[in-house]
Amino acid sequence: MEATTTTMDRHEFFRLVGTSVGAIMLSRCLAGCTKSNGADPTPAGAVDFTISLNDNKYANLNQKGGYVYNNGVIIARTQADQLIAVSSACTHEGTLITFQSASNRFYCANHGSAFDTEGKVLNSPATRALTKYNVLADKTAGSVRVYS
Ligand code: FES
Repeated sequence: MEATTTTMDRHEFFRLVGTSVGAIMLSRCLAGCTKSNGADPTPAGAVDFTISLNDNKYANLNQKGGYVYNNGVIIARTQADQLIAVSSACTHEGTLITFQSASNRFYCANHGSAFDTEGKVLNSPATRALTKYNVLADKTAGSVRVYS
């Protein structure tokens, strides 16, 4: 059996390495550039899920002012005992928002954007509304359905 060896000159080596490194850097840049424009606040596809209020994971929703997250949605119980749901990512740069029951609004601590219970912008820098979802509570079953 005969062994074969191939040689590569210095210029060819640097050309191949440079092309590979350039391709890697370009793909990283494109991925990074997409994220810097802000995460899409709307969960992909239609939203339709049901959570159980008997599940400890969602226990906060049993009290007025409490809120929970599921599937890119924040579900809150207002002080007026209404269940509301909006997309949970701030429309400015995608930070997870919270519900402030005292002021009855959703809030992003990252840069201070605020949204009303319909998802409309109250305070910038966010300029786009959150997506609002329908909420159907079944007190007998102890469940809450959230859907588009
Ligand atoms: S990410 Fe929410 S205000 Fe900037």
